[in-house]
Amino acid sequence: MLLNRKDFFRLSTLGVSLLSACRLKRDFKGSGEEWTRLREDFELSPDYVHMACLLMASHPRPVREAIERYRSELDKNPALYLRDNNQNLLLDVRRAAADYLGAEVDEIALTDSTTMGLGMVYNGVKIGPEDEILTSNHDYYATLEALRYKSIRTGARVKRISLYEKIELVSEAEIIGNLKKAITPQTRLLAITWVHSSTGLKIPVAAIGAMVSEINARRPKKRQLILTVDGVHALGIEDFKVGDLGCDFLMAGTHKWLFGPRGTGIIWGHPRSHTEIIATIPSFTSKEGWGGWMTPGGFHSFEHRWAAADAFRYHQKIGKTKIRDRIRALNTQLKEGLASMPHVMLYTPMDTNLSAGITCFDIEGLVPAEVVSRLREKHIVASETPYRPSHARMTPGIINSADDVDKALAAVRSLRT
Ligand SMILES: Cc1ncc(COP(=O)(O)O)c(C=O)c1O
Repeated sequence: MLLNRKDFFRLSTLGVSLLSACRLKRDFKGSGEEWTRLREDFELSPDYVHMACLLMASHPRPVREAIERYRSELDKNPALYLRDNNQNLLLDVRRAAADYLGAEVDEIALTDSTTMGLGMVYNGVKIGPEDEILTSNHDYYATLEALRYKSIRTGARVKRISLYEKIELVSEAEIIGNLKKAITPQTRLLAITWVHSSTGLKIPVAAIGAMVSEINARRPKKRQLILTVDGVHALGIEDFKVGDLGCDFLMAGTHKWLFGPRGTGIIWGHPRSHTEIIATIPSFTSKEGWGGWMTPGGFHSFEHRWAAADAFRYHQKIGKTKIRDRIRALNTQLKEGLASMPHVMLYTPMDTNLSAGITCFDIEGLVPAEVVSRLREKHIVASETPYRPSHARMTPGIINSADDVDKALAAVRSLRT
């Protein structure tokens, strides 16, 4: 069989990626020993317990190797390597993201971060002065700012609500009920965040999607409610097919839980909604479907962008269900330990339907910044939430072990004032 240049290229990139992924484990079963070995893929300093990787990923071996391979080629011959490979490599990343999400390649655009995706979608969505945008008080700064800019530009009104009264009592029904009450005939855009980085609360996105579909069934085409999701703290944790969420657009960085190269992210767009948006940044791949058109052009840190494919494959090699279960188990261990300490106030719900990989808490007598710096003295890397009120936060992920969680709990126990 004769291969053309494009096919040859595809097979060889896939071959190298699969080879890297295979080095991970032939058939990952999820035993304790395998999780311990997986940690060796990362160069994370062993002097610390890392509980803040929700901010920025450490690159696992296959991602590091891919970045290095591409960097070396670019350094040898930047113009020619780009000319011969860029289109295919970008397509390869979009294909890997689509496979991971259970989507089609046309539905995936590449970005540099969640923030870039939020900015592009909210800037580009076609709504006007007669429309209302509904969002929540718990959403991240980048969502709220992008919506504020949208309002200044278009005159669309932004309405912010609280999804629940007390985090200790929050339920799916309360969240859905509050959203339903706040949606009016003027509401055209519903902007939500799947997992809140302020409290660790995971909201029932698929149930919200189903509610929006019901509302849309009674609306004319021109007045359909568009559901947008910041999915950054679900991607790389939750086991889902993006089409099952009932949303129109999902924006996420791939440089946090997914361990993608720093400075990478995606936008997924449901085909029914592709015409609801106009690209913000001119593309170099505008002929390659909606996702190609939405992918910002310009010359990038291409070695990072291309190596994002290896992060998606790394996760798939381990298995989405195993990753979700592992992160749930570690966070449950952490939450149960924190909840048992009288000097700790835990905010994140125990219920795994309402939580994912972020666990937020306070320690009596200490402000969150002090908690973080006292934990750091004990070699536990935590973070404080950039919200008001702020809380301390730990984020056990697949780079952590039960032993790490025990160490973190021991450190928190020792901070009793
Ligand atoms: C909910 C949420 N969305 C977006 C971001 C920003 O993500 P990125 O670094 O990919 O822009 C963060 C935190 O960094 C976050 O907590």
